[in-house]
Amino acid sequence: MAQLAVVGAGYVGLVTAACLSEFGHRVTCIEVDERRLIGLGAGDLPIHEPGLAELVWEHARDGRLQFTGDYTRIAGTEFVFIAVPTPSREDGSADTSYVLQAVHSLITHARPGLVIVIKSTVPVGTGDGIAGLAPVLDAGLEVVSNPEFLRQGTAVHDFLEPDRVVIGASSPEAAARVARLYASLDAPIVAVDRRSAELAKYTANALLATRISFMNEISHIATAVDADVDVVARIVGMDRRIGPAFLRAGLGWGGSCFPKDVLALSSVAASNGCRAPILKAVYEINELQREHAAELLLDAVRAIQDPIVAVLGLAFKPNTDDVRGSPGLGIAQRLLKEGVTVRVHDPFAFVNASRVLPDVDYRLDPYSALDGADALLLATEWEEYAALDWVLVRETMRGKTVLDGRNALNGVLLAELGFRYRSFGRAGQNNENGTAPHEHPIAPPGVSEASLR
Ligand code: UGA
Repeated sequence: MAQLAVVGAGYVGLVTAACLSEFGHRVTCIEVDERRLIGLGAGDLPIHEPGLAELVWEHARDGRLQFTGDYTRIAGTEFVFIAVPTPSREDGSADTSYVLQAVHSLITHARPGLVIVIKSTVPVGTGDGIAGLAPVLDAGLEVVSNPEFLRQGTAVHDFLEPDRVVIGASSPEAAARVARLYASLDAPIVAVDRRSAELAKYTANALLATRISFMNEISHIATAVDADVDVVARIVGMDRRIGPAFLRAGLGWGGSCFPKDVLALSSVAASNGCRAPILKAVYEINELQREHAAELLLDAVRAIQDPIVAVLGLAFKPNTDDVRGSPGLGIAQRLLKEGVTVRVHDPFAFVNASRVLPDVDYRLDPYSALDGADALLLATEWEEYAALDWVLVRETMRGKTVLDGRNALNGVLLAELGFRYRSFGRAGQNNENGTAPHEHPIAPPGVSEASLR
């Protein structure tokens, strides 16, 4: 079992440290934020991630996982994983200064042959750049790219049961040493050059974002031609060459990764003299979804004096309290600017949301947010929203517009209850004038009707 360090106790660093100690390695996690460090010492995690606290507590207790702010602890390690943020700069490029700072802080304590493993998402060529730094060369250190593919909400599972482990190295020996750290996993190990590993990470996120933006474009066509984008997604997803994941239309993608990485990849393209019109369109379509939603809501309440819009869901996706890049928050901000009173609810993210958006009316229960509202936006598909008592909601809302930003509600039922249901591309369920939606087609013999829904 190896001795290793992980720099950064954020979402990627903490998951990496906890899971590597679960593999049996002895891990020192280095965190420079004193408050965070004190919290970790007391078993208090800075993020919520299913299964993470249990792993951290277990391995802090058995001594395999330790937290410190002290870089001298690098001296006894064979590997240092760097898992620090690479935020967007004004121009969209990724700011790698925290990564470089971490490298400079560790060099003086590193023993020859130590492997610097870069987990942070970095522009292509960053690993080569670090490997070429005089102090890195002088100290005889290796640099390996080992990108993460962790989704918030399932990060521990994604680390312990990955689709693949990517190792980008300039020597087979360094790649083999890092590969051995993952020996207990039943997953393909893909050993490649550093630049391909770095580009693969961006490409994965950009491709997933592209699928969503593409389906969002299709959703508008579906509305125009009276088709159903969910049905279309299911049909195309049944093609094994395409697959069903990340085809859900709606308000689009948020979070701390897709927006940053699509911009950063565009910037990598531009700085290397390449045109990247697809990436530009993918980003623009995502912005347009939010504008489109805001316009629909404003249209619905324009004629009303002192209108109230309720936004359900502020987390960028369900099962997280992260509001970075959240569509719900962005739309709430836009509505506020237009003089609309905005009431919001989120089962989990309201503390984080209230830090960025203090001027809205936070409600601790969705019914209270909806009471007297003229329109409702469902912005995050938390399960509890689909299970609301819609009869009660219809009685207490002042207006009847429901904009289903995640195509997650039963539009047919809502229309029957008298709501004016709007979605992103479920034309059959939309009922523009508050009338019942048109009927679903009858299934021909041998075809299940459910498959037509
Ligand atoms: C994403 C990637 O999925 C991870 O593989 C990657 O490691 C991570 O970024 C990262 O770079 O660190 P995450 O940001 O946690 O993970 O979120 P996703 O589950 O990928 O969802 C991103 C956004 O797409 C969410 O706002 C979600 O609501 C939206 N989405 C997802 C859709 O609008 N439609 C879909 O069909 C799927």
